[in-house]
Amino acid sequence: MSLRKDFLWGGAVAAHQLEGAWNVNGKGISVSDVLTAGGVGVEREITNGVIPGKNYPNHEAIDFYHLYKEDIALFHELGLNCFRTSIAWTRIFPNGDELEANEAGLQFYDDLFDECLKYGIEPVITLSHFEIPYHLVTEYGGWRDRRLIDFFSRYAKAVMTRYKDKVKYWMTFNEIDNQSNYFRTYSTWVNSGLKFEGEEDTKLGRERASYQASHYELVASAKVVELGHQINPDFKIGCMISFPSLYSKSCKPEDMMMQMVANQRRYWYSDVHVRGHYPNFIKKLFERRNFNLDITIEDLAQLERGKVDYVGFSYYKSFVVADEHGKSPEFDYVETQDIVDNPYLDVSDWGWPVDPLGLRWALNWLYERYEIPLFIVENGLGAEDKVEADGTIHDPYRIDYLRKHIAAMKDAVDIDGVDVIGYTPWGFIDLVSAGTGEMKKRYGFIYVDKDNDGSGTLKRSKKDSFAWYHHVIDTNGEEI
Ligand code: BG6
Repeated sequence: MSLRKDFLWGGAVAAHQLEGAWNVNGKGISVSDVLTAGGVGVEREITNGVIPGKNYPNHEAIDFYHLYKEDIALFHELGLNCFRTSIAWTRIFPNGDELEANEAGLQFYDDLFDECLKYGIEPVITLSHFEIPYHLVTEYGGWRDRRLIDFFSRYAKAVMTRYKDKVKYWMTFNEIDNQSNYFRTYSTWVNSGLKFEGEEDTKLGRERASYQASHYELVASAKVVELGHQINPDFKIGCMISFPSLYSKSCKPEDMMMQMVANQRRYWYSDVHVRGHYPNFIKKLFERRNFNLDITIEDLAQLERGKVDYVGFSYYKSFVVADEHGKSPEFDYVETQDIVDNPYLDVSDWGWPVDPLGLRWALNWLYERYEIPLFIVENGLGAEDKVEADGTIHDPYRIDYLRKHIAAMKDAVDIDGVDVIGYTPWGFIDLVSAGTGEMKKRYGFIYVDKDNDGSGTLKRSKKDSFAWYHHVIDTNGEEI
């Protein structure tokens, strides 16, 4: 038996990608509610508020808000023992800066968690998954503003108190490290509510704003970890990072240095979350750039007091980095410039390199560095599915992808001794893609009848992968 007996087998989603009901029962507008649909090579547009006539795929999504009872019954049939979703901050605090929580929003998650628990499915909750209240962006500039620490803490306190006996596993900020890719506005927008104009729309301006926002989020996260442990000492509170394994293009020392710096630029976030302090290489970077960030002594003490219990991470792909632009001695890694193709790997229909062994690499990298439990909270293949005339959906490509990744995870446990507590494949019920806003980029074991243009009955049906994953869970990963 390689995996823990209490291994968490689940599936992962985020509120804004499946709930819909974007303006129901007092919910406010979030940063994802002003994102239009995009596609491969077409970035999602960030509109100024909700503009009539534009296509906002998250507004209805797959209408989980109204269909959750049927869906959770299906999740139970699939065999899940945990369900990772997020709480939409804007259901609880519609504008983000209110003093009182919205009871209708709280009640919705009470009902949702009760429904999960009825079937023995443990909710695993992300507090902020690309769902910042839009009002906090228009009024405060998003996470540029220190006051968001208090707004976020108030929200977290409200939900952690309310659900203290229903939810044990929490995560603070989803893929907080994505904003290290500060030239991609989509990432800074959904992570922190940052769009750039004028002087800020320069390399230094973007970089500084992203680091300042990240600092406030790290402090907010630490505050919430500390608070959560006071609310219920049994809580397990993790960080959540995106982990593309970062390889060097060659053994040329300059490429190796670029790989090292690329890792530093992405994974200093988990360093702070886990160790409770900034690594020197980031402090040096702030100094070199004269960023003069607002980081107080009390902030640093707070980071020390709010170390996470586990590292949650998403793994979809690996990247190859190279020093093609002669950037020494700083090796200033910029994700939009310094990634090159990997000739050894196939890519998905959306151009994502498929690299199961990279998951084992990731698990080892993280475990060696932090020596605390790891939770794979996202993994999966976005692909187009075809519904046959008889209604069946054959998705051997998805089974193949997941099988190889689970095998790599088991090797990391069996051979390398990594402590993995759970695995929740992403989008196990089809939902709106975060990066492109498409429906046709499907990850699910459960098919949802809805197209990119918003048409469809929303009917749910099982793909071949449904029975396969059920058996994986049934055998605790022994038979994949
Ligand atoms: C992660 C996010 O980036 O990857 C999810 O946490 C997202 O919200 C997932 O959906 C897959 O990305 P995409 O762009 O294919 O939806």
